[in-house]
Amino acid sequence: MRKPLIAGNWKMNKTESEGISLVRKLIQGVKSLTTVDVLICPPFTSLSQLNKLLVSSPILLGAQNISEHKSGAFTGEISADMAAEFCTHVILGHSERRAFYGETDELINLKVTAALNAGMIPVLCVGEQLEERESGGAASVIAGQLQAGLEGVHLPDPDLMVIAYEPVWAIGSGLSASAEDTGDLIGGVIRPTLSGLWGEIISQKIRILYGGSVNPGNARGFFTQSEIDGALVGGASLSADNFLGIIEQAT
Ligand code: PGA
Repeated sequence: MRKPLIAGNWKMNKTESEGISLVRKLIQGVKSLTTVDVLICPPFTSLSQLNKLLVSSPILLGAQNISEHKSGAFTGEISADMAAEFCTHVILGHSERRAFYGETDELINLKVTAALNAGMIPVLCVGEQLEERESGGAASVIAGQLQAGLEGVHLPDPDLMVIAYEPVWAIGSGLSASAEDTGDLIGGVIRPTLSGLWGEIISQKIRILYGGSVNPGNARGFFTQSEIDGALVGGASLSADNFLGIIEQAT
C-alpha cells in the first residue's frame, strides 16, 4: 500500500565534484527502478548542480535543513523558498541538529510549517536517547516529539509528510535497533500519534522510515516489517555500492 522510500542523508560530506561522481553511479543503478522511491539529501552547495544532473532520473533531491524564517537578515541561513528551487524534501529535526545546534520541538515545528508553505515535504526525524529507552521512556519521548513538532500543522495529503524514526543511540554507532521492536514502536506509538493529529486514514498512508546504522546486510530485516516503509541512511549512503545495495533490499 505504501511505496517504500530509501533516503540518503549525506550530512557534511562530499564536495560538489565528489557528489556528482556518486550521483552518476546512482543514476545508472536505479535506471529501471519503479517500485521504490529514492531520495538523496546532499549539502546545500551541491543542490543546484545535482538538480541539473537528476533532471531525467527518478532520484529525488532533498535538503538537510532550512531556516524557520521566510527571508531577511539571518546571516548564513537558507530559506525554504531557496531550497525549494532544487528540492522536493527537507530533513527536519535530525538528532544532530537537536543535539549540536539546540533545535527544540518548537523550532522544528516552525521549520515544518515553513517547508510545507514552500511546497516541500518534511522528513521529520524523531527518536529517543539510550537512557530514555533504558528507563522505559521511549514511547512518551517519541510521541511528545511528534505532537510538539507537528502541532497545528494542517496536512491535507499524506504524501506531504514523511516521518523517520531514528533512535539516537543507533545513529552512526553500528548498533541498529531490532526490526521487530521498531515495527512494534511504529505501529504502537508513531502511527497512533499521527492518527490523533490527522485521523486514521491519513496516518495509515504516511510513510514512516527507520534510520540508524542501516546497511545492505541488515536492511532486509527492517523492510520485512509491514510498518516500516523504508530507511533514512547516513554513512551507507556515501557509497554507491552500499546505497544501491540497500535500495535493492527494498525492491
Ligand atoms: P547512520 O545515520 O545511517 O550513519 O547511522 C542515519 C542518520 O543520521 O540519518
